[in-house]
Amino acid sequence: MRAYRLNGPKAPLKLVEEPDPMPAAGQVVVDVKAATLNYRDTIVQSGRYGGQQKTDLIPLSDGAGVISAVGDGVSTARIGERVAVAFMPGWLDGPFSAAKQASALGGGFVDGVLAERIAVPAAAAVPFPDDWGFEEAAAYPCAGVTAWSCLFGGRGIRPGGTVLVEGTGGVSTFALQFARAAGARVIATSSSDEKLAHARALGAEAGVNYRHVARWGDRVAEIAGGGVDLVVEVGGSGTLNEALRAVRPGGEIALVGVLTGFDGAINTSAILMNGVDIRGIYVGSIGDLRQAMRSGVRPIVHEVFAFKDADKAYAHLRAGGHRGKIAIRIGG
Ligand SMILES: NC(=O)c1ccc[n+]([C@@H]2O[C@H](COP(=O)([O-])OP(=O)(O)OC[C@H]3O[C@@H](n4cnc5c(N)ncnc54)[C@H](OP(=O)(O)O)[C@@H]3O)[C@@H](O)[C@H]2O)c1
Repeated sequence: MRAYRLNGPKAPLKLVEEPDPMPAAGQVVVDVKAATLNYRDTIVQSGRYGGQQKTDLIPLSDGAGVISAVGDGVSTARIGERVAVAFMPGWLDGPFSAAKQASALGGGFVDGVLAERIAVPAAAAVPFPDDWGFEEAAAYPCAGVTAWSCLFGGRGIRPGGTVLVEGTGGVSTFALQFARAAGARVIATSSSDEKLAHARALGAEAGVNYRHVARWGDRVAEIAGGGVDLVVEVGGSGTLNEALRAVRPGGEIALVGVLTGFDGAINTSAILMNGVDIRGIYVGSIGDLRQAMRSGVRPIVHEVFAFKDADKAYAHLRAGGHRGKIAIRIGG
């Protein structure tokens, strides 16, 4: 099979030819048809993703394809089934743990899905709706599940509740869609008025351009009528203080992202004086993937690149012009 492997922080990916994987007992082999990129993949490629990492890793965590082989003892999956591959094949359900985190594809020492085939535990291969394409299914494992965890992994957003989504990337666009499907109001921020118009077309009731409005948290709180119930916080330390202005007393911040970096001064008194719950999220389980895909929400795939253009897909994500997800088509 053909696969791409990392080739150093600033180097193009390396295309390699290697033996097809064989399914071990309890595993299936998935012929990967599409993969999508997440911001995480840019951090992995630059070698800045947490602890240690295999230098020639097969990157990308999010893929979908067709089961082409099943190992001994597999009774729940069949050859020919169209499946999405879970982000952490070792997290079936239940609480998060370091061991489950260590199973995450396309990071650390676990090869990912930018390959024509991958062997995974049968439970990690989750069927998706018949009318979705592979690119749509491949959008779910990281971005979709993370957005799902933000909205429903804590107190749970209710009809009429108010959600702030920061930016218009993969996680935030999913969060907007899930929130609208649940009957919640959504306010979006973005660096671009054009992107805010698209967010409105997806059901956001208002948008605030964070390049033009420095105190955008106050503006969001005003629109919400006293603060939002939940913030999907993808910016990290550089946006958290504004998120604390945007959230209502007793509200919740789902802490997901690091787009502005890893360090910074946080207004801790705004957290405790307002009784705000801040909940750290690391994607979610295979059970969350099943539930999220059952929502029927169709992901927004902004652009699809050919397998030979994998480096261009990375460059496109880094440039930040996208809304929703960027995909790579793999195989025939
Ligand atoms: N913890 C987890 O489980 C988990 C899972 C998935 C992702 N993440 C993290 O969540 C973040 C988003 O990931 P993603 O894959 O959705 O990224 P993405 O698709 O690349 O989207 C990033 C978007 O965020 C917006 N943005 C960039 N800088 C911003 C800033 N300073 N303030 C506000 N918005 C900003 C931009 O939207 P506009 O162009 O509209 O401004 C940009 O398009 C990343 O930090 C990623 O590592 C964490």
